[in-house]
Amino acid sequence: MSALSSRLFEREVIVCVGAGGVGKTTVAATVALQAALSGKRAIVLTIDPARRLANALGLAELGNQATRVELPDAPGELWAMMLDLKRSWDEFITRTVSTEHRDAILRNRFYQTLSSSLAGSQEYIATEKLYELHSSGRWEVLVLDTPPTQNALDFLDAPRRILDFLGNKPLRRLLAPALVAGRFGLRLFQMGGKAILEGLSRLTGIETLEELARFLVEIQPTYDAFKERAAKVRELLASDRAAFLLVTTAHGTPVEEAISFHRMLVEAKTNVAAVIANRVHVDHLGELSLPSPEELADELLREGVPDSGQPALSERLARTLREMRALASLDARNLERLAASVHPTPQVRVPRFPADVYDLAALRMVADHLFSRS
Ligand SMILES: Nc1ncnc2c1ncn2[C@@H]1O[C@H](COP(=O)(O)OP(=O)(O)O)[C@@H](O)[C@H]1O
Ligand SMILES: [Mg+2]
Repeated sequence: MSALSSRLFEREVIVCVGAGGVGKTTVAATVALQAALSGKRAIVLTIDPARRLANALGLAELGNQATRVELPDAPGELWAMMLDLKRSWDEFITRTVSTEHRDAILRNRFYQTLSSSLAGSQEYIATEKLYELHSSGRWEVLVLDTPPTQNALDFLDAPRRILDFLGNKPLRRLLAPALVAGRFGLRLFQMGGKAILEGLSRLTGIETLEELARFLVEIQPTYDAFKERAAKVRELLASDRAAFLLVTTAHGTPVEEAISFHRMLVEAKTNVAAVIANRVHVDHLGELSLPSPEELADELLREGVPDSGQPALSERLARTLREMRALASLDARNLERLAASVHPTPQVRVPRFPADVYDLAALRMVADHLFSRS
């Protein structure tokens, strides 16, 4: 068993975080696959898998449904679920809100904004869904992919922000007249209260403030239940039953983001099991010196490959090898800086593959790097 798998698979919940496009979804699927190969009943909750990866996991159309992935050689089980965030919200409301308020909430325009596009609401419901699946006891290892966040803090902060918003008493008081007055005539800036205005300015697509007011009133009887659950989710994520994997590439900006994200995760007292540097450029020549075009031309001649083209193949090869070395050394520098900044969190590197990772065979290749060398 590799160091990373023994560190990871004793945890019940593994959360993959990081900037957009770095490989979170890929890593999440790989970790769940490896858990199944190690004999665990594992599920990956993906958010936005590329279509081909979704197909490979059997997630063609259905969202919010656990699907078993066929893995004949795995002693464990691999399951996958594509999180449909809107549907998760609806199910959550249906489960938590009493029947008398439920329909009004589900129909409410503000609720529709909240459940589809309000900042932080995706993160909130993703963790909520994770908690629900964890409580079901059906899986031993749950791996959560996270939505592409702009700000590293979004993910951990979202539940509190959503709750602050829903429980905002001054806001409710301010909006109370809207319920009496019907369509709200006042402009936002006449309402005063800077923090509240900032909160409101994050919202999009609210047709009338009346609807917001109505929503806040309808949700109140359930607010304490919301709050209690959010506290439990938070507790689970900060406990030693959960681990975080921070995914990044080796480029300058993602590395800077990863460093600041790591600091926040540590401050939030979460367990960061590893920093995964993905799509790292590798210098396949290692310690060897770069061959000259002449040496390559000799080599091609020996192998019977025509040194054709303009410029000649040997020259193009020499250039590619030079570029590869330059990219690899840039990446190596950034990753050293990253390793020093996140010390003692271990760093695991996954090379950049020549093609996208979209099927189980490619996920196994990623797994070989994630789990054999650490
Ligand atoms: N090591 C790798 N080598 C080559 N391509 C990769 C690698 N890891 C991920 N990819 C590809 O990069 C793209 C983004 O990966 P993805 O996991 O969807 O990122 P995220 O979920 O962070 O947005 C996908 O097309 C994926 O197939
Ligand atoms: Mg993704």
